[in-house]
Amino acid sequence: MNLKQLRESVPTISEDGPIYLDNACVTLRPQPVIDAINHYYTREPSCGGRSAHKWGMAVTRTEFSARDGIAKLIGAEGPSDVVFTRNTTQAINQVAHGINWSKGDIVVISDKEHNSNSIPWRMQEGVEVKVTKTDEDGRFNLEHFEQVCSEAGSNLRMVALSHSRNLDGTSIPAKECGKIAKDHDSLYLLDAAQSVPHRPVDIREIGADFVAFSIHKMMGPSGMGALIGSPDGFDQLKSIAAGGQTVSHSSLDGFTFKPGAPHLEGGLGHYAGYYGTNSAVQILNELSMEQVHQREVEINTIISKGVKNLDGISIIGPESAEERGGITSILMEGRDPHQFSMLLDEAFGIYARSGLHCVDPWFHENQTPRGSLRFSSYAYNTIDEAKLAVEAISELVEAIPRT
Ligand SMILES: Cc1ncc(COP(=O)(O)O)c(C=O)c1O
Repeated sequence: MNLKQLRESVPTISEDGPIYLDNACVTLRPQPVIDAINHYYTREPSCGGRSAHKWGMAVTRTEFSARDGIAKLIGAEGPSDVVFTRNTTQAINQVAHGINWSKGDIVVISDKEHNSNSIPWRMQEGVEVKVTKTDEDGRFNLEHFEQVCSEAGSNLRMVALSHSRNLDGTSIPAKECGKIAKDHDSLYLLDAAQSVPHRPVDIREIGADFVAFSIHKMMGPSGMGALIGSPDGFDQLKSIAAGGQTVSHSSLDGFTFKPGAPHLEGGLGHYAGYYGTNSAVQILNELSMEQVHQREVEINTIISKGVKNLDGISIIGPESAEERGGITSILMEGRDPHQFSMLLDEAFGIYARSGLHCVDPWFHENQTPRGSLRFSSYAYNTIDEAKLAVEAISELVEAIPRT
């Protein structure tokens, strides 16, 4: 499949659909993904991993293939490094609630984290969260990060950072951060919700203990995510979903958890989701993540150049679109991003997102409580759509005076 074929395979935009530029929230699904989900329900709607009949075996094979495809996509060792979750949020919660914390432990996050990579750590009793600050130019400040880690000293237990930010698309030097975390004997979790779906990521090279992402942000079914780690790393976590499928033995006197990933995946799985995941990952492995990234940067370049000099508009993050992947997040002085988002839809059929994007602390710190207007692309978006988005915003900026 190439990018043109991908575009044609997405039913919601292939004919008279909207211009969908809200992909950082959730991506659209190509027909093969929808067909795969449908296949589960209409052909083999049974239990995987436990039933030995033909349907059950087919589900087990597809589930294995989905895990294997994900492992290949991101350079994990293999299927046993993959725990399926509902989303990034649940994956991070499994780690945060799964660690046996000691009073005084410190977790280091950044000032641009999504609430999902902040609140779970803040909920842990006796644990202190320290924040590393971004540079004035919007880039990650490695020196400040190292200083925060050093100040935490032997209390540093976890470094949890978003690989690429949903706020502005910027990325951190993940490998260097990992080295610093390891120099301080800390665990390292990467929130990869906005990186794995959008560009090549080799998690072995980065050296994180845990990587969390959402499969619904990479053309997979909604309510599907993954936590990547190692069987040893998973063994260190207390399961937040213990029960069926998680034990190798149980009696009236006790139980023994299965080693590795299975003890974190209690209960019946999202089988239809595994079918859709298998298909989405096959498409991405065929397309190549480099191609996905290039298309998003092309689109971002057009939108960024087109809007950066408009009255009252400023783009969050560095000027170069290359550094912001597929995200153009715009602050609008004296104008309301929500109003713009609604008018973009009503007058131009363009779907963009307005608000705080679950990165509330950053907007409060920067005194921009109305948030931003965010355009986020995916591999199926086109150059023409980017140009139409620029024309639409330009018209609206001209038509709506600042207050
Ligand atoms: C960087 C980042 N982390 C975490 C999340 C949470 O993802 P989910 O809602 O799929 O759990 C998002 C969602 O936009 C995100 O962009």
